[in-house]
Amino acid sequence: MLSFMRMLLFVFLIISPLSTYSSFTLANVSIDDSAPDPRTGARITYGKIDNTTNGVGFIEGQNCQKCGAQPDPSQTFNRTWHAASVKSNGNESPFATVSFTGSAIYVMGIVVSSTPATNMSLNNSKIFFQVDGMDQGSFLYKASLGPEIIYSYNMTLFATENLSYGLHNVTITCGDGALPQRDPNSVCLLDRFIYTTRVDSEDSSSISGGPQPSNKFLF
Ligand SMILES: *[C@@H]1O[C@H](CO)[C@@H](O)[C@H](O)[C@H]1NC(C)=O
Ligand SMILES: *[C@@H]1O[C@H](CO)[C@@H](O)[C@H](O)[C@H]1NC(C)=O
Ligand SMILES: *[C@@H]1O[C@H](CO)[C@@H](O)[C@H](O)[C@H]1NC(C)=O
Ligand SMILES: *[C@@H]1O[C@H](CO)[C@@H](O)[C@H](O)[C@H]1NC(C)=O
Ligand SMILES: *[C@@H]1O[C@H](CO)[C@@H](O)[C@H](O)[C@H]1NC(C)=O
Ligand SMILES: *[C@@H]1O[C@H](CO)[C@@H](O)[C@H](O)[C@H]1NC(C)=O
Ligand SMILES: *[C@@H]1O[C@H](CO)[C@@H](O)[C@H](O)[C@H]1NC(C)=O
Ligand SMILES: *[C@@H]1O[C@H](CO)[C@@H](O)[C@H](O)[C@H]1NC(C)=O
Repeated sequence: MLSFMRMLLFVFLIISPLSTYSSFTLANVSIDDSAPDPRTGARITYGKIDNTTNGVGFIEGQNCQKCGAQPDPSQTFNRTWHAASVKSNGNESPFATVSFTGSAIYVMGIVVSSTPATNMSLNNSKIFFQVDGMDQGSFLYKASLGPEIIYSYNMTLFATENLSYGLHNVTITCGDGALPQRDPNSVCLLDRFIYTTRVDSEDSSSISGGPQPSNKFLF
């Protein structure tokens, strides 16, 4: 009888940490283009490939008067986006990169779906993606010719949902870079990253809900 009790205790001890684990659930977390990750504080790094002395690359679109793309801030996530445009081939492609712990990553942006004839980089989106330094494809879109500029918001530019759970990074690059292409012209409008991560079951509602003024992960 005593050994049976010991065995029960043993079973209880090895099972209890597991049951703690099983109270995790998956939730999507948004990293705004202009704000830190609300859970980890991680920030998006912006720059230009092959030119570390020129850190600009992407700029804050909502504050950019001279930018060709002028989307409506109220249609974007948290009223901000980052914009880059490329007109010539070269190594100085603008990039944005961020690290996250999770199993899926989505890149959300704004696309110029239609525009009048233009001499600005506005009629072509060419965006390239890497996960953990490996090429993962591209988003290529040519705007149609129309009487006014029309934007498509909340577009999924890239998604991958089968990552092994853990620390990863994602990098987006605007334009063809050094690829010998006839038409290098590209506009890239980044609104947010979304990643899927594990959270305590009881905390999931506070993350996947809408605006979270008193999220306890916020710091
Ligand atoms: C995260 O968002 C994607 C795209 O909207 C959706 O397909 C997926 O089910 C979401 N995952 C979770 C855990 O909510
Ligand atoms: C939205 O932007 C504000 C700054 O204007 C920032 O404090 C807040 O954390 C952002 N919200 C999200 C969800 O990123
Ligand atoms: C890097 O960017 C800076 C600032 O725009 C520029 O002066 C410099 O010539 C660039 N370097 C190269 C190698 O293109
Ligand atoms: C895009 O998503 C944001 C955040 O969910 C939302 O506030 C905005 O209204 C959406 N825009 C459109 C055009 O649906
Ligand atoms: C597309 O943009 C490029 C400049 O970025 C311009 O040379 C070309 O004429 C534009 N095409 C149209 C149809 O407006
Ligand atoms: C682009 O077109 C505008 C008028 O539509 C003109 O004022 C401007 O000089 C042009 N820019 C270039 C670089 O051709
Ligand atoms: C992204 O991940 C790759 C592979 O793990 C690593 O080599 C690279 O340094 C990481 N980049 C950043 C910016 O963390
Ligand atoms: C994820 O799926 C894509 C195709 O859908 C495949 O190319 C890639 O190898 C997969 N990655 C892993 C880690 O399974």
